Amino acid sequence: MHAKSIRVGMAGCGTVGCGVGDLLIRDHDALAARTGLDIRLVRVAIRDVCKSRAPHVPDAIITGDLATLNRADVDLVVELIGGTTVARQVVLSAIAAGKDVVTANKALLALHGPEIYAAARAAGVGVLFEGSVCGGLPVIGGVLRGLIANRIDAFEGILNGTCNYVLTEMLVAGKSFADALADAQRLGYAEADPALDINGTDTAHKLAVLATLAFGVHADFATIPVEGITRIGLVDLLAGHELGFACKLLAVGRMTEDGPALYVRPTFLTREHPFVGVDGRGNAVSFYGHSVGHVMFKGMGAGGGPTASAVVSDVVEIALGNGRRTFTQLPMFDTAAATRQAAMRPTAPARFYVRCAARGGAAAVSGIADGLRGAGVAVQEARPFTHPAVAAEGTYVILLTAPTMESTMRAAIDGMQKGGAATEAPVYLPVTDPFVSSNP
Ligand code: HSE
Repeated sequence: MHAKSIRVGMAGCGTVGCGVGDLLIRDHDALAARTGLDIRLVRVAIRDVCKSRAPHVPDAIITGDLATLNRADVDLVVELIGGTTVARQVVLSAIAAGKDVVTANKALLALHGPEIYAAARAAGVGVLFEGSVCGGLPVIGGVLRGLIANRIDAFEGILNGTCNYVLTEMLVAGKSFADALADAQRLGYAEADPALDINGTDTAHKLAVLATLAFGVHADFATIPVEGITRIGLVDLLAGHELGFACKLLAVGRMTEDGPALYVRPTFLTREHPFVGVDGRGNAVSFYGHSVGHVMFKGMGAGGGPTASAVVSDVVEIALGNGRRTFTQLPMFDTAAATRQAAMRPTAPARFYVRCAARGGAAAVSGIADGLRGAGVAVQEARPFTHPAVAAEGTYVILLTAPTMESTMRAAIDGMQKGGAATEAPVYLPVTDPFVSSNP
């Protein structure tokens, strides 16, 4: 019996593209044995044909002409070019040419998802994107297939390997923020523009993709509250560690009576939280479904190998005939009538950690605590904090609050700055216990 053949054209051949080259060319026979499919990488279109490329991709299939991906000798287009301009054109023109598309481009889906989904549904082709969220973790297929029977009430995730690596390396290996980020870039975890990692944008892109799958909404990206890790200092990681907290950049989605609450912010996890121990470039995502309860995916989210694993799983899914059918039938991708829905800020009270460099050092502790109390924040603990690793920075004051509304906290922090109690803008972040679902 002849294996079914599928001819793949790929746009871009960076870190992930090299990984896809390895899996489709080097591992061709093993993949054929496992799937019964003859998947051939027949063309790789890259913008700069002089750049070094995957060791297993022969020169003969490399081209500088992206339009050749739409020729009749390509069945399926894999978009790994990144960004949202050329990538959008590659995807829309492939769809117009009747090709199924696989992409790992979370920015493209977060910003142009409804346009792309509508074009693909109108053309009767599939758009699959397992590699767009958490690289190698089968999160998208997990939700669309494994959890489809559930109403998802909430999800949360550590979705950016670079940030998680930086936070871990600062605390565990004593690296500076800049050195840890440079290492993440060298290891191939970071975006081409690493500002997207550390300012939280990449996490928010992935959050928007997950919100479509979990809640069936297309978030208006500009309305998602996003805070990255740039203001987190070693002092916060050390103080948190002493308090029994681990700092993670969390993406949170909750379905509320008023609509989806989506946000990205650095958060301290208590010792009981299921994400404790997800360190380095590790990613994790939890879903809370009304029937299944809590399900968690955990593994390697960034890097060429894990993301290529996800991309090739989509190629196989399309070649098997499942990918296009799933995409064209599930109503969450029927965006003809969809409007972009605004995301909301969190509305539930949370405990907060506050750190400030105080005028007057340790003597200022009670004054700062009283200032917060005066602004309506119940302070549970307030003390000076010093550590040999940050001794040169002077004395900090750290505080822990009782559960407080975000709006009250924000007003109190503004007041601290205006009143001159803090010498620089205080850092404050929520302390999160494990989510309690209606169906534990
Ligand atoms: N820059 C991303 C990260 C790559 O660090 O997670 C995977 O999307």
